[in-house]
Amino acid sequence: MSEFFLDLPMRPRRNRKSPGVRAMVQETHLTPAQLVLPVFVHEDPEDQPLASMPGCTRWSLDGLLREAEGALEDGIRALVLFPKVPEGRKTPGGEEAFDPEGLVPRALRALKQRLPELVLVTDVALDPYSSDGHDGLVVDGEVVNDATVEVLAKQAVMQAEAGADIIAPSDMMDGRIGALREALDLNGHTGVSLLSYTAKYASAFYGPFRGALDSAPKAGDKKTYQMDPANAREALRELALDEHEGADMVMVKPAGPYLDVIARMREATTLPIAAYQVSGEYLALRSACDAGWLQEREAVLESLIGIRRAGADLVLTYFARSAARWLREG
Ligand code: PBG
Repeated sequence: MSEFFLDLPMRPRRNRKSPGVRAMVQETHLTPAQLVLPVFVHEDPEDQPLASMPGCTRWSLDGLLREAEGALEDGIRALVLFPKVPEGRKTPGGEEAFDPEGLVPRALRALKQRLPELVLVTDVALDPYSSDGHDGLVVDGEVVNDATVEVLAKQAVMQAEAGADIIAPSDMMDGRIGALREALDLNGHTGVSLLSYTAKYASAFYGPFRGALDSAPKAGDKKTYQMDPANAREALRELALDEHEGADMVMVKPAGPYLDVIARMREATTLPIAAYQVSGEYLALRSACDAGWLQEREAVLESLIGIRRAGADLVLTYFARSAARWLREG
């Protein structure tokens, strides 16, 4: 053996020599409390397995309660709710978005009553309710900003009244965080949090989700409001605005292809950062695992720890329940 090797001053492998040493030097950890489970709910009395997202289900109200109970048992503390509104009830104005008898408020009340310790997160945007399939109101073919924000504020107040703990606007309209904060406060909901989808990209990875909710835009795309995947500095500008307008938490979405954005936002804010591992990321992993080419447990946990390592405090993921169980098994 050459003297060069004997004299090696640093041998990084020493810190990897046994499970005990590796655990001592592990830099990032993932726990079930950091995972948020997105759930789909519909009016039908039957639960519906989702063709576009194998392993995921669109729940009836009863099914949702069972799923939420199971998630809590697995160690998940928070759910985010997404409704599928029947085609016949969608309107250009998306009125169901703020109807106190709509599906989301009924689900919120049922969940709050049955599982008061569960943290309920709601989505604010018009796409599941709009006959145009856009996150905002469409006037002469354009998604209009300020009129949309007024509707979103009504939607947020209604959700707060029905029991939402955290309201998460995913619509990407300008100024909505400030407007929602003001509307919530004026209506006495000073304790309801805002989790802003700060950097939500116009991504191809939302396809399976739109399949699950039949919520694809009827015309055009979402590029006039969601961000260009090529941009990262712009995320910092959105972040500055959201902080100024009063966001309690901020989000990057999707997660895996945008780890650099998470890392840059981590440097720029002291607020908690969430990252959303979206439906297309789920489907890509799921398909490769189902085909037998990836080991599910190892691949999924690696994808999640990578998002944490980039700087996310919280991860929204359709794998939340299985990941929580794997983490608890150790
Ligand atoms: C819409 C919304 C979308 C998702 C969450 N909220 C889709 C979109 O913007 O078209 C996507 C989530 C996923 O793909 O898992 N407000």
